[in-house]
Amino acid sequence: MKTIIEPFRIKSVEPLRLTTREERESLIRDADYNVFLLAARDVIIDLLTDSGTGAMSAEQWAAVMRGDESYAGSESFYRFQDAVRDIFGFRHVIPTHQGRAAERILFTTLCGPGDVVPNNTHFDTTRANIEHTGAEALDLPCPESRDLSAPGDFKGNIDLEALEAMIRERGAEHVPLAMITVTNNSGGGQPVSMANIRAAAELCHEHGIPLYLDACRFAENAYFIRKREEGYADRSYLEIAREMFSYVDGCTMSAKKDGLANIGGFLATDDDELAREERDLLILTEGFPTYGGLAGRDLDAIAVGLREVLEPDYLEYRITSTGYLGRHIAEAGVPIVQPPGGHAVYIDAAAFAPQVPPLELPGIALTVELYREAGIRAVEIGTVMFGHEDPDTGEPVPARNELVRLAIPRRVYTQSHIDYVVEAILGVWDRRHELTGYRIVEAPPVLRHFSARFAPLPDRA
Ligand code: F0G
Repeated sequence: MKTIIEPFRIKSVEPLRLTTREERESLIRDADYNVFLLAARDVIIDLLTDSGTGAMSAEQWAAVMRGDESYAGSESFYRFQDAVRDIFGFRHVIPTHQGRAAERILFTTLCGPGDVVPNNTHFDTTRANIEHTGAEALDLPCPESRDLSAPGDFKGNIDLEALEAMIRERGAEHVPLAMITVTNNSGGGQPVSMANIRAAAELCHEHGIPLYLDACRFAENAYFIRKREEGYADRSYLEIAREMFSYVDGCTMSAKKDGLANIGGFLATDDDELAREERDLLILTEGFPTYGGLAGRDLDAIAVGLREVLEPDYLEYRITSTGYLGRHIAEAGVPIVQPPGGHAVYIDAAAFAPQVPPLELPGIALTVELYREAGIRAVEIGTVMFGHEDPDTGEPVPARNELVRLAIPRRVYTQSHIDYVVEAILGVWDRRHELTGYRIVEAPPVLRHFSARFAPLPDRA
């Protein structure tokens, strides 16, 4: 059969509240044009994030009922630890309430002022947690990633030459760890090849630097390796995942993505001394080392989710449905990061509305229009999220790219929902010349996209 169907049927449904364009006009104005400030009930199709928004399976709900809520040494923890050890291969498994808690513990333990942590591209919370320790978070995306519209199999790779040059220039003693994010979320959801992970690990290890994977979307990355990298077509996703982790020294993980759970995360390593220090910090803010801020039932849901996410039918449907959205809007001319990512499609807002310059926030202009058009919530990954002020002149510096991400929650929306999204995007595309800019009225100093308030600029036409 050519038609790839959702490999599940639906047991429980959640009604959507349909709004009118008029209602949405006033709702988005009341939210100061920031979609993070909308109430979820006012959103029709929520593509804000694929994080913690997935639907759990019947087996996961059954596992929830098995949750052992003992404070210490619960059965749930051992099931969780077994699943993580089996797939990721690390001895020490430290549960946390979500990915950023694992990041905070890792960076607080290893980093300080004068240090630099390279990554293919840091996600906003990794960057913020590194900078919070006084260290520098450095993005080293591969050169192919710069041309957003060019095809490419592994545009998420880290730039190995730049990594080597940076280590020589700064000195290995100032690089407490290096990271690779799979898939590269802020870089268009693009995958990283096994060869790139292996080579980066060799390079780091020559200099005595540990390499970590930010593993949120490890299964989606394994899918792309199997489909695109020579030598992996006959390997299972589990084998590919195990090989990815075999080269590195540890990982941080948000189980809200490829853990198929609504909350949770972990930190993993083989380093005994480091794990001891990390557990000491864990107890301060997350909880005892066998629950780390999670309920036993959450640990059980993750243990099942980590196995389901590697099932071939699931991954085939998952990546195909994201590609379906990308292909249908790209064929009509909408500029997207090519090829479509695993968990999301990224529209190039700068190319979509070239009349809106980067400092007038084309990504915000497009997210507002998508909401007005059809109640779709997307997220800007551009100057609001990653722009900054020049430390010398105080002038605002735009981000490298102005993207709008349409992230697809796992197992939540059907093909007709996606068709609705395609129709809405094409509607906005037809009147793209009408899009005008926004300015920031008020924003906090870090992670400003969550709560910034915006105002439309006077119509330039
Ligand atoms: N690393 C990456 C690559 C991520 O995408 C995220 C979260 C995190 C770390 C942090 O994990 O949310 O569990 O604390 N990304 C979500 C997103 C929020 O929308 O992309 P967390």
